[in-house]
Amino acid sequence: MKAIILSGGTGTRLRPLTYSGAKQLVPVANKPILFYCIDNIVQAGIQDVGIIISPETGQEIKDAVGDGSLWGIKIQYILQDIPGGLAHAIKTARNFLEDSSFIMYLGDNLIGTGINKFLDEFRTNSPEALILLKKVDNPKQFGVADVSKEGKVIRLIEKPDVPPSNLALVGIYIFSPKVHEAIDRIKPSKRGELEITDAIQELINMGCNVESFVLDAWWLDTGKKDDLLTANVIVLDEWLKANDIKGVIDDTTKILGRVAVGEGSVIKNSIIRGPVIIGKNTEVTNSFIGPYTSIGDNVKVTKSSIEHSVIMNDSELRDIERLEESLIGRRVRIIKNNTSHKALRLLVGDDSVVEV
Ligand code: DAU
Repeated sequence: MKAIILSGGTGTRLRPLTYSGAKQLVPVANKPILFYCIDNIVQAGIQDVGIIISPETGQEIKDAVGDGSLWGIKIQYILQDIPGGLAHAIKTARNFLEDSSFIMYLGDNLIGTGINKFLDEFRTNSPEALILLKKVDNPKQFGVADVSKEGKVIRLIEKPDVPPSNLALVGIYIFSPKVHEAIDRIKPSKRGELEITDAIQELINMGCNVESFVLDAWWLDTGKKDDLLTANVIVLDEWLKANDIKGVIDDTTKILGRVAVGEGSVIKNSIIRGPVIIGKNTEVTNSFIGPYTSIGDNVKVTKSSIEHSVIMNDSELRDIERLEESLIGRRVRIIKNNTSHKALRLLVGDDSVVEV
């Protein structure tokens, strides 16, 4: 069994964060989403992993992930020259995949469980495809499946106007090599992409067995700000189990609940109420950091109060009375203007949202 992780494409929904970076590298609890995908694949015992990258963000992905030695595996990179769709990505990876069965994992999907059960089911029943489904409230935004009582997939449609069910396709699929035949038979969709939903539908039309597995754990397709903040809450809640303090905490600081502080960070005269994760070489001074906050590396927080937020690397907050439910990108400075006239002075990039 091999695995491909799709980290190409263009991230429009998380703009402006994804103007300057790959959406698969946006952090949840200070770890890139893509790393959770690799963790899951490695925990399932898969050693042969290829990552699909695009010309725009490929180098950034390579720099972050490296050669796989962080996970004790070898990772190959496969360049997809255009974002031609998920089935086009499989076509691009044809030489890497050879005639092996494989798992396809979308690099911006987070699920609250491992994938072993799902692989066991594939190995036991040997279908040509096994898809992972999840009941959702907003099926129009996803690929949607019509499934028989026995779990056989009857029909699939991508982002339908009239969804046949509320079962969305989660971005994790397992295929036998038969899928290549189906991909060779499909044509680009209205949006100009070779859709994986069409390829799976083609497998069904060819009389192949396509099975489904309904996920009961949480799933986050981290496409938007609120999804990302929710993912941050869930991951901090579930995966930050104990205090892990590597930085320096002074005597006047109070640490309450589960808190992680990375090497080289210094916390002075502050209250940190977990679950909170603070990265490396970050300084927090005279501040309150409230629950469900992730602060990255090389961040400076001074005389500020933050809750339920994600602050990425190299940013600075000074004299901010209360910041909540916010997603702050990299190298951002938010500083209160202490002059007598209350003017806002902003330098805000395209697609930003500022609620004052
Ligand atoms: O997240 C689940 C949904 O993912 C499914 O319900 C849909 O059926 C499926 O088509 C897909 O829809 P999205 O519109 O969310 O796909 P997106 O374009 O965001 O791409 C998903 C991932 O694959 C993302 O990490 C980028 C990568 N990708 C995408 C394209 C189009 C590639 O690597 N190459 C590509 O050509």
